[in-house]
Amino acid sequence: MTEHIVGSVDEVPDGGVIGVEVDGLEIAIFNCDGDFYAMQNRCIHRRAALHRIDEERIGEDDCLTEGPGDIDCEKRVTACPWHGWKFELETGQHQTTEKRMRTFPVIVDGDELRVDV
Ligand code: FES
Repeated sequence: MTEHIVGSVDEVPDGGVIGVEVDGLEIAIFNCDGDFYAMQNRCIHRRAALHRIDEERIGEDDCLTEGPGDIDCEKRVTACPWHGWKFELETGQHQTTEKRMRTFPVIVDGDELRVDV
């Protein structure tokens, strides 16, 4: 694994998420109360981008539920914007199946955010 600089801590709002790309991998970086989490940014269901949580939904015809997505910092869980599948930020574990999103260690070094990929 190699550490990659993906931005600075103030680029990820508290309770928010951004999307970055590292070596061709799309990664979502979440911030909950200053704790940062990195998870693959394409949902294992139908590949929605998790960081587009507040944006207009794409692939609306495929959506079974009302959007948008959500980040619950109290439970440390995010909900995919398309169909609401919920994943634990720490582990990437889907809450109701054995499926799991890939997660990556985040290193905070001063203002710098790095992800170990
Ligand atoms: S694409 Fe994420 S829940 Fe369907």
